[in-house]
Amino acid sequence: LGDPALDIGKLNKETGYFTYDPGFVSTASTRSAITYIDGDQGILLYRGYPIEQLAKQSSFLEVAYLLINGELPSGEQFRAFEHEVAHHTMMHESLKNFLNGFHYDAHPMAMLCGSVASLSAFYHDTLDMNDPEQRRLAAIRLIAKVPTIAAAAYRYGIGWPFRYPRNNLEYVTRFLHMMFEVPSEPLELNPVVAKALDLLFILHADHEQNASTSTVRLVGSTGANPYACVSAGIAALWGPAHGGANEAVLKMLEEIGDAKNVASAVAKAKDKNSGFRLMGFGHRVYKNFDPRATIIREMTHKVLADLNVSDPLLDVAVALEEVALKDPYFIERKLYPNVDFYSGIIYKALKIPTEMFTVMFAIARTAGWVAHWLEQHVTPDAKIGRPRQIYTGAAERAYVPVDKR
Ligand code: ACO
Repeated sequence: LGDPALDIGKLNKETGYFTYDPGFVSTASTRSAITYIDGDQGILLYRGYPIEQLAKQSSFLEVAYLLINGELPSGEQFRAFEHEVAHHTMMHESLKNFLNGFHYDAHPMAMLCGSVASLSAFYHDTLDMNDPEQRRLAAIRLIAKVPTIAAAAYRYGIGWPFRYPRNNLEYVTRFLHMMFEVPSEPLELNPVVAKALDLLFILHADHEQNASTSTVRLVGSTGANPYACVSAGIAALWGPAHGGANEAVLKMLEEIGDAKNVASAVAKAKDKNSGFRLMGFGHRVYKNFDPRATIIREMTHKVLADLNVSDPLLDVAVALEEVALKDPYFIERKLYPNVDFYSGIIYKALKIPTEMFTVMFAIARTAGWVAHWLEQHVTPDAKIGRPRQIYTGAAERAYVPVDKR
């Protein structure tokens, strides 16, 4: 890297050669100073700070500041950031009409995807991508408004009126307050719930050039506005091979139902004809263990104990992990539990409904998406993303009029 002799773009211009790399398994699409992953050692650093330390000592909003700005904030900088985010949490009143237009049983990810894209039609003062202040403000707006829209999408689905953000609450507590309305069970006031959700948000905040972040950057490379870019990221996240895995894991554990059925589920996952994979297992980059999964596994036991929740699905998950990790199929292919294997069980204990799991991921990942989107606008060698292909279609042939076909 950095050696012009190894610059594949230059090589391509001179020779016409290009690489064929399905799924971009070995292609770096950009330089980035945000997140470092060592997949063999199981290391994840945000701006140089180990995820384990951030999980223990930081908060999601501080991590968002770090990802965007490159350094941890001073107390004063953090208070100013928190204040500015709180100031932008309201969604435009007209956006309510937009949400109300969705079918009553719309998936909240569909509502989030559409509503976030629609923000570009509401905030015209942040659409000049050449203005650094407009870019910064758009990033703040996205971090502030995505939780408000997410909570509104959930309440729409259950027929509850939208709830306005209470800006005297902290980021995560404010989200819980907007989402739930259970007077006998004030979840937002339960520090175990808020702390657990904050920790999950930290773990999901960024993960370098994953499918959704690469999507945000690809759309961003055209000069598209950040609301459109993040909406595209949400769409990419939704798939079960990516952020949709947390919802899929819980459904899978429910289907397995009991630890005694684990062996047959593992056998089915090994059978390529079954079309079934163990959801929450495997990762493109981690070939040893996913450090986020290690943190979440510990946390799951603690959160369930603190909330006095006993969930039989946890026993199924533990049994599944035990069997899979001893199985040569999973050992040879280096398939370990990923970040989403246990996150669903915690979300369930926090009373977050299954269809909101990927929405939770999207709230957290918005911090990473905007950090990457901001970075790409100040990367000197940034170009429009434009992969090539190996053409496998018909050779040139003459058009045949319809009466001769
Ligand atoms: N269960 C069973 N077999 C699997 C699994 C799994 N979960 N994951 C991979 N494999 C097998 C493949 O069949 C393949 O076997 P083969 O070599 O015999 O053909 C081998 O392991 C390699 O798999 P690939 O699909 O080539 O690996 P890739 O890096 O492309 O995919 C992915 C990674 C998408 C995460 C994959 O492991 C998977 O589908 N996992 C389940 C979904 C999931 O948990 N996604 C969340 C990822 S983390 C995140 O996005 C936050």
